[in-house]
Amino acid sequence: MAEAELRRPEPATTAGPPSEAELAEGGLRLEVDGAVATVTLARPERRNAMTFATWRMLAAIGRTLPPEVRVVVLRGDGPSFSAGIDLSMFSGGEGGFPFEADDETGDRFIADLQEGYTWLRNPEIVTVAAVHGHAIGGGFQLALACDIRIAAEDAKFCMKEPALGLVPDLTGTKPLVEIVGVNRAVELCLTARTVDAAEAARLGLVERVVPTGGLDAGVEALTAELLAVNAEAAVATKRLLFAAPLNTLDEQCAAERREQLVRLRALAAAFRG
Ligand code: ACO
Repeated sequence: MAEAELRRPEPATTAGPPSEAELAEGGLRLEVDGAVATVTLARPERRNAMTFATWRMLAAIGRTLPPEVRVVVLRGDGPSFSAGIDLSMFSGGEGGFPFEADDETGDRFIADLQEGYTWLRNPEIVTVAAVHGHAIGGGFQLALACDIRIAAEDAKFCMKEPALGLVPDLTGTKPLVEIVGVNRAVELCLTARTVDAAEAARLGLVERVVPTGGLDAGVEALTAELLAVNAEAAVATKRLLFAAPLNTLDEQCAAERREQLVRLRALAAAFRG
């Protein structure tokens, strides 16, 4: 990913953060507590199935996040993280997928939805998916868009799209291949099979597994660890790590030198007072 793509996007408007009512329309809640923002998928009666409004609202959260936020946690209410797309989005009608759209309009429509996921890679924040129960389709992709996945032992991941005649199009194919390799990604997607937490950990799809019921405590501990490191160094390091797969060794060494010179000067200035 190019460096420019990894910067927190400028707000498109001067509008503030979405209101509670707007968030609720997208089936979301947002709590900002100092350096930590928690985004909750809040339609447990639909297993946190996500609508187009959910993804547009996620994008709005990303555009309007207060600058003091360093860690963003995504979690789900009820028995599951997310059952993926709300299947009613395919049944037509107002707010449904514009099946008759021309290529350009259809492309823009999906690009807007993808924006709900891309901001989670921005280096100014560390994003944590706290997954329990099912993470299916767009829900699995939401977890993949985050930097760190912490899963309860009851978590189950499934890339269901091909079974429904679709492709995963919410930014999930790239991180999936980067994490598990192309062959395992083909096997997972083209069988649409379910991966439990233990296998997900073996495959590198989750970074931490905690006992069922222990997710909140696990997230709290992880968040404290993330906030304990130097904020500016964290931003620069995430930028470097995301650039690494795209750079040659020479380019990456040069990037490390550039970032480190900024760090060393900042530390020296702080030391001098
Ligand atoms: N869209 C709309 N409604 C949903 C969805 C969904 N994706 N998933 C669940 N619901 C609804 C159910 O219809 C049910 O509604 P009802 O109470 O009115 O009958 C309610 O949520 C609870 O669902 P259950 O199936 O009873 O819950 P359970 O915990 O037993 O199973 C599970 C959860 C495994 C997530 C199951 O609901 C399921 O398989 N859902 C469909 C998943 C899916 O195919 N998602 C699309 C993936 S592709 C993509 O995301 C692009």
